Amino acid sequence: MNQNGLSPVIIGSDHAGWELKEAVKEYLTGKGFTVEDVSEPKLNPEDDYPEFAFKVAKAVASGKFERGISICGTGIGASIAANRVRGARAALCVTPEMARMAKRHNNANVLVLGGRITLPEQAFMIIDAWMSVHFEGGRHSRRVQLLDTLE
Ligand code: RB5
Repeated sequence: MNQNGLSPVIIGSDHAGWELKEAVKEYLTGKGFTVEDVSEPKLNPEDDYPEFAFKVAKAVASGKFERGISICGTGIGASIAANRVRGARAALCVTPEMARMAKRHNNANVLVLGGRITLPEQAFMIIDAWMSVHFEGGRHSRRVQLLDTLE
């Protein structure tokens, strides 16, 4: 936690998610979050989404970060990559309601956005929704545990 009592967020994008990633970083920083960016330092049209997506997912699955945000063009590649990491539960969300349910029922620890799909204002609402609720546990704990035991 930082001095505001907020857990730091790890974020990453490729070139296709770059603009939205920059907007999200500014938004979260403005809200008092510390944001660690694992993207390439400069916009590189040749970069590959698995590179940052695995970094974000591993950092969250290891417990180093409570929350991660990954952004590629559609969000699809980043979610495929993240969900290969045991302990990462990545949810590609295009509405605030999806984001709320991803936390409440799936305990999603990585939020995935599509930089070519979702506009910044909508992305901010999705992020707020995801961060505003808690995992409900109960029968949902059993289901989340089954992801590991049935794998
Ligand atoms: C890059 O052009 C694009 O394919 C990538 O960002 C992502 O959308 C893949 O799923």
